[in-house]
Amino acid sequence: MSDIQSLGVVAVIGGTGSEGSGFAMRWAQAGLDVVIGSRRAEKGERVAAELREKLGDVRLRGASNLEAAQMADVVVLSVPYESQETIIESIKPGLAGKVMVTVVAPLLGEKKGRYAPAPGGSAAMEAQAQVGPETRVVAAFQNVSAHHLVDPEHQIDCDVLVCGNKRADRNIAVALAKAAGMRGVHAGALQNAAVSEGLTAVLISINAIYKTRNAGIRITGIEA
Ligand SMILES: NC(=O)c1ccc[n+]([C@@H]2O[C@H](COP(=O)([O-])OP(=O)(O)OC[C@H]3O[C@@H](n4cnc5c(N)ncnc54)[C@H](OP(=O)(O)O)[C@@H]3O)[C@@H](O)[C@H]2O)c1
Repeated sequence: MSDIQSLGVVAVIGGTGSEGSGFAMRWAQAGLDVVIGSRRAEKGERVAAELREKLGDVRLRGASNLEAAQMADVVVLSVPYESQETIIESIKPGLAGKVMVTVVAPLLGEKKGRYAPAPGGSAAMEAQAQVGPETRVVAAFQNVSAHHLVDPEHQIDCDVLVCGNKRADRNIAVALAKAAGMRGVHAGALQNAAVSEGLTAVLISINAIYKTRNAGIRITGIEA
């Protein structure tokens, strides 16, 4: 089982966004060495500086997406599905031999509450096909709302489904979930990520119908 000390440097590609910045902040707060990647290095640096201001003494820097991936031991992909292919292409030289944890969920419509299955089976499967066998893709965090992530005092009330072909790789995402204050649950092969990606649209719809922003999932019947 990976613990956070063994994770090394974690890069959040698209870490300037609402989802990625929330995770970057929580992982830095937990003691991880975090790099926020952006298409523009200065934007990544600016967001990292804002978070350092909020958190105090943490290891949190900004860089271009490619530099962030190259510096990292673990790469987290947190960009809109529409830009996934372009962004992966731009960071590919920094990915070989690493685990890339993707939070990407393909969504459709103005309010994003419709699931649009990715042509390649899922966004995660498409990412794996694009990066090739030298990079192992793990899908996680698709069902965690950004809304409370950015509040460092807020305890996030949900589980994190983790899909990936090797248990050791999934353990990395489980450790990241723990560092962010959540329970990671092994949810089988990467092929199963289509289900977690679909659940994102379901949760967004639930949020709209029940007028909340925090719908999440909890797995019952396994050890706490
Ligand atoms: N937000 C949520 O509550 C939530 C929940 C679960 C899953 N997700 C998934 O997590 C991923 C990130 O979500 P998010 O809400 O953080 O997204 P976002 O804020 O729209 O975008 C994240 C970052 O991606 C880069 N980006 C935005 N548009 C781009 C484009 N057209 N081309 C290239 N790069 C672009 C931007 O970084 P730079 O400008 O710095 O390059 C941006 O800050 C998505 O796949 C989403 O489905 C989100």
